[in-house]
Amino acid sequence: GVEAKIAPSMLSSDFANLASEAQRMLDCGADWLHMDIMDGHFVPNLTIGAPVIESLRKHTKAYLDCHLMVTNPLDYVEPLGKAGASGFTFHVEVSRDNWGELVQRIKSKGMRPGVSLKPGTPIEEVYPLVEGEYPVEMVLVMTVEPGFGGQKFMPETMDKVRALRKKYPSLDIEVDGGLGPSTIDMAASAGANCIVAGSSVFGAPDSAQVISLS
Ligand code: DX5
Ligand code: ZN
Repeated sequence: GVEAKIAPSMLSSDFANLASEAQRMLDCGADWLHMDIMDGHFVPNLTIGAPVIESLRKHTKAYLDCHLMVTNPLDYVEPLGKAGASGFTFHVEVSRDNWGELVQRIKSKGMRPGVSLKPGTPIEEVYPLVEGEYPVEMVLVMTVEPGFGGQKFMPETMDKVRALRKKYPSLDIEVDGGLGPSTIDMAASAGANCIVAGSSVFGAPDSAQVISLS
């Protein structure tokens, strides 16, 4: 493997059997569980929210890495904190004016703050959030347009990962979208140390084998 954390995206799991799917991923060697929260507004898809995180939390102690693809992330801080989320990653595109307050509230609810950016958003936009008074602890570089699993990895996003890694040697840098056997190495050598993978893990005959690549 490449010594990166691997976070299977539960978006590709059987939602009707979420607890057993989560346990199956942990048994296969998953480090984190990536939970995609979408509001049908920031992205044209609707998934799960705090009630499902709360239900899953009753079945597992795993790190629940929540990725908020929502227009109003502030509204989700309290419910997700209560539900037992571990990480709370919001999008910079909808938080340009209030990220300081967001980060403070996320931390006050015992969660780990992260910021994500879409493929078209310049990497410079997240620098103030990494360096500010209320710093995020992870940057999630989207390697597809957010909204759906099963899309094709965009190699041009690796420039952003390289720039981030050069500037911040010890920052957690996560990548999400189109990661699998043919792209994990590329992302890890660019500097990503947390790899999200949905369809490549859940669609593989041997999920553990794909997980072991990270
Ligand atoms: C996409 C989500 C991803 C998605 C990844 O908007 O943020 O987490 O589930 O799925 P794959 O690995 O299939 O691209
Ligand atoms: Zn995601």
